[in-house]
Parts: sequence; C-alpha cells; structure tokens
Amino acid sequence: MNSFSYCVPTRVIFGAGEVRQAGRAVRDHGGSRVLVVYGGGSAVRNGTLQKVTDALDAEGLTYYVEGGVQPNPRLAFAQDLADRYRDKDIDFLLAVGGGSVLDTCKAVAMGLYSGGEVWDFFEGKRKVEGEIAVGSVLTIAAAGSETSDSAVLTNEAAQVKRGCNTPHNRPRFAILDPELTVSLGAYQTACGVTDIMMHTLERYFSSDGSVNQMTDAIAEGLLRVVMENGLIAVNEPDNLQARSELMWAGSLSHNDLTGLGRPKDFAVHQLGHQLSALFDLAHGASLSAMWPHWAQFVCRKDLQRFAHLGRAVLGLRCDEDEQCALLTIRGLMDYWHTIGMPISLGGCVGVQTDLVLRQLADMCSYQSSRTIGSFVKLDREDMLDIYTAANQ
Ligand code: NZQ
Ligand code: ZN
Repeated sequence: MNSFSYCVPTRVIFGAGEVRQAGRAVRDHGGSRVLVVYGGGSAVRNGTLQKVTDALDAEGLTYYVEGGVQPNPRLAFAQDLADRYRDKDIDFLLAVGGGSVLDTCKAVAMGLYSGGEVWDFFEGKRKVEGEIAVGSVLTIAAAGSETSDSAVLTNEAAQVKRGCNTPHNRPRFAILDPELTVSLGAYQTACGVTDIMMHTLERYFSSDGSVNQMTDAIAEGLLRVVMENGLIAVNEPDNLQARSELMWAGSLSHNDLTGLGRPKDFAVHQLGHQLSALFDLAHGASLSAMWPHWAQFVCRKDLQRFAHLGRAVLGLRCDEDEQCALLTIRGLMDYWHTIGMPISLGGCVGVQTDLVLRQLADMCSYQSSRTIGSFVKLDREDMLDIYTAANQ
C-alpha cells in the first residue's frame, strides 16, 4: 500500500430538511457579510433560495443575492462578481446550487481575496495564497465540488475549460439535503450519476501496480450503490432514499477517499472538458461519451484490472480476463445507455468532421505541449485516436 496524506476539512450537514441550518452554519464558520450565489433559476422556482434566505434572516446576517450562473460556468461571470463585490467586505460566499455555482463561488473567492485576474490562478500564473470562506447548499448530486479542492471554469473567449486545485478551495461546510434534489429531471440526474461514477473510475486504474484492498472495496461499493440508486432516481425522481444515497456518494466520490494510495488518472475528464468547452455539453454527458473509447484504447495495459472491476461491480462471472475486461466496458456502456447518457459523440454533439477532431486533440493537448492521464499517458495523437473512435 502506498503512503498518503488525507485531510477533508469540510463539515457535512446531511439530511432531509437540513437546509434550515444554512444561517447557523454560516455564522458558525465566521460569516457575517454573505454573498449568496445561485444558478439559472431552479433554486428560485423550487423554493430552495427562499429557504436559504429565511435561514440567513433568522441569524440576522447581512447578505447580497446574485443569480445567473450557467452550467459550464463562465470565467467572465465570476470575474464580474469579484470586481463588483470587491469593496463590499464580503467574508463568506454561499453557493446555492450544483458544481457550477460552487465553482463560481470558489473563483469569486480567489478574486476577492487576491484581486486582479481570476484566470491567472487557472493558468498557474499566480498561486492562491489565502481564502474567503465558501460554503454550499447543494441542489444536485454530481460534481463533488462541495468537498473537493478544485474549481472548474470555462474561458469562453479562449474556448477552454480548466480546473484550479488548491486546499483553499475546500468549502467550510456542505449542506446535503436530499429533498432539494427531487426537482431534478432525468437527464440532469443521469449526468450527475455518471460524474459520480467517473470520479471513482478515474481513480481506479493506476500505473504503479499499487494494491490497496481497503480503497478498492470503498470504490467498488460506491460504484454498486450509485449504479443501483441512479437507475431508481432516474425513473422515480421523488424517491428520497435513492436521492440520499446519491447525494452522499457524490461527496465521497470526489474527496479522494476512493483513490487513496493511488495516482489519479483523470484523462477522461480532460477529454470531456474539451468537448464541453467547444459544444457547451453537460459535464456528465461529456464523460460517458468518452470513457468507453478511452477504456478500449488503454485496457490492454492491465486487462486484469478491468476484469476485476467487472467482477466486483457488475457481478460478471467469466474466468478469462480479456473477455471479462471487454464485458466490463460493454456493461458500463449499457448502463449509461439505459439511464439516457450518450456513449459516443454522435449521441451528444453529432458526428464531427476530421477537422473538428483535430481541433479537439490540439486543444486538449495544449497544442501538443502536454500529456494527460497516468494509467496510460496520452499524447496528442492518442487523444486524436480516442476522439476518432468516439466519433460514431
Ligand atoms: O442553473 P439552474 O437553474 O439551477 O439549473 C441547474 C443546471 O441547469 C440544474 N439544477 C441543479 N439543481 C437542480 C437543478 N434543476 C432542478 N432542480 C434542482 N435541484 O442542473 C443543471 C446543472 O447544474 P450544474 O451546477 O452545472 O451541475 P453539476 O453539479 O453537475 O456541475 C457541473 C460543473 O462542475 C464541474 C463540471 O466540469 C461542470 O462545470 N466539475 C467540478 C468539479 C469540482 N469543482 O470538484 C469536479 C467535476 O469533475 C466537474 O469537473
Ligand atoms: Zn467530474
């Protein structure tokens, strides 16, 4: 087992109705002048925002409210908020929404703390040295941003989507109230399920042959629970038990627990981010469209590992590793298809010309200046092969 250091300082407040704790939680974590941020309006329509502002009022907190964050959140929006609120002595950012709202808050926090251009942090030109506290009232089980150290923004002008990882990004608290997620439609639910699965799958395949049975058991258990309850939630949006399982799994899947002691891969996220940047595609859909083609491209590196996944998660019974590995990939494709997720470019952004595929590979490889992944390191030509295989 490899060495690791694990610290997830985010306080989780879990349970139906726990949104009422929002004001108290902000106060407990030092907030007094709060910027509340929400998305395109679902939080207004389903009453979540009202519950949050009631909870802030009950604590007598001063707050401002800003809506309008789009999925695949835009740099320009975050920069504008940081610029407009610089002189307002904000000491707490409260995200009411999903990963897009939360990542916007993390970026605004960077801008408020440090001034200047937020994108500098995403390009690695400046280091995040401190923080304005962020907390979240989560409304969709998906990105795991509520306990993660990362923020992901789209720079529309440059057509790139990029992450910035720093311990300063970890939210102070996450209110996980599964009742807030029953208003989600089937497609967004399925996108979330796919993303939760992917955060564990991206940590499951490692190049260094390290063995960590405990981590494997957590990862495989999480995948089984998410697949079972994902199917239920897509078909029965009001099923609070399924919504609860997904919400807790979403946070656990992306706070590193399911990959401790192993290097992460995250090539599929990089391939998917470029699709989202170019086509404004939902994050979960970008991942299911790429994973099967990534898996087919790399599986020969360790067929046994793919076979192990299929036996442990899908209950496959085959003895022979190669056959079992291929059935594992097929099994996950079938699952995503069943919950309404695309498994090719044709299924989400349409079949593309060779020119667009080359553009995707150029952008994902930063014009051939980087590789992605660690299980198998992928260069620009590999990326092009995978985009081409996905182009059905
Ligand atoms: O904007 P509104 O109107 O609120 O609608 C949203 C949005 O259209 C809707 N929604 C959310 N909660 C709802 C609801 N609709 C009805 N009822 C509710 N209760 O769902 C749509 C998607 O919202 P979004 O916040 O974009 O979803 P998600 O949480 O999947 O976040 C995706 C973003 O997170 C990034 C992704 O790249 C993407 O930009 N990620 C962030 C990560 C991180 N910071 O650690 C890691 C992830 O791998 C991911 O990259
Ligand atoms: Zn993700």
